[in-house]
Amino acid sequence: MRKVGMLTSGGDCQALNATMRGVAKTLYNYYNDEVQIFGFEEGYRGLMYNDYVLMKPSDFSGILTKGGTILGSSRQPFKLMRVPGENGFDKVEAMKKTYQNLKLDCLVILGGNGTQKTANLLSEEGLNIVSLPKTIDNDIYGTDMTFGFQSAVDIATNAIDCIHTTAYSHGRVFVVELMGHKVGWLTLHAGIAGGADIILLPEIPYDIDHVLAAIKRRNKLGKRFSILAVAEGAISKADAKLSKKEYAKKKAASPFPSVSYEIGKQIGDALGQEVRIVVPGHTQRGGSPDSYDRVVSSRLGAAAARLIIEEKYGYMVAFKGDSIVPVALKDVAGKLKTVDPNSEIIRQAKDLGICFGD
Ligand code: F6P
Repeated sequence: MRKVGMLTSGGDCQALNATMRGVAKTLYNYYNDEVQIFGFEEGYRGLMYNDYVLMKPSDFSGILTKGGTILGSSRQPFKLMRVPGENGFDKVEAMKKTYQNLKLDCLVILGGNGTQKTANLLSEEGLNIVSLPKTIDNDIYGTDMTFGFQSAVDIATNAIDCIHTTAYSHGRVFVVELMGHKVGWLTLHAGIAGGADIILLPEIPYDIDHVLAAIKRRNKLGKRFSILAVAEGAISKADAKLSKKEYAKKKAASPFPSVSYEIGKQIGDALGQEVRIVVPGHTQRGGSPDSYDRVVSSRLGAAAARLIIEEKYGYMVAFKGDSIVPVALKDVAGKLKTVDPNSEIIRQAKDLGICFGD
């Protein structure tokens, strides 16, 4: 009997269940149900505290379209360090102990950047790990595509679509702030798909004067409105020059809840135009996976199960073009995949007349 542990960690997304289903279906199919899947509750917390459920094949039925995660998730409950925590509790040792006590053959980990880092640590500690790249941010190094990304792009695009009619009616400027953490993939794709006039990304620091000039140009052409798609991590050229510490201090002292509000105020003050801020927030992570993500997750799940069957551990399954390949966890951990300001997609967006504020 093969014994496989499974957990979902970090911020959720639409295709976590679809991906777990892909892994489970492939394993049950290959091993003719001679496999036990231990689902750890709320990510690494469950592994640390021996909190799990023995899953049944029926647990994975009917969840292809279900958003969120049936196992629950948590941000890393506390930073993983190789030193004993309070009360002499060593978090890494605790996770190893659960794994060893249950005599698991391997552990399947679904998560984003922080999760992959911990997955690599556990792999270095001798646990058999197979991981899968989850995040709406699409920022995991080593893979062209993460599951959850496309569904979030759809929701963010829909948010921009909905703004178009009201922006036009009222002749307003709208700043739509999109998620993405420190990178701009989600905003870039939703911005292009939603027909945003201005797209601001963390990877391309903006000059507010260039943003104002783009709006003025539109006004002069008789356009009644302008729509900005702004990544939550967008940063001005001046702020990009600050040290991390200085920037954090400035942000903490800022009267604005986020960068979009600051930009909105600057636009309103400079142009005297009505500005509205829209923050779709966690809706971007909610609901069902779209059809594209269902295919992506099912394929990633099957590929991860294939690694387990072949007993190839220490890898994350990753998209390279249309193929799925194993990438060593040590080559993924601690790195970030950012938007290249000189990439083709940015060049083409600029050719379309989209302003990036640079
Ligand atoms: O990583 C996914 C993400 O949704 C980011 O885009 C966002 O910055 C962050 O998580 C929000 O985190 P939380 O779920 O803790 O509010």
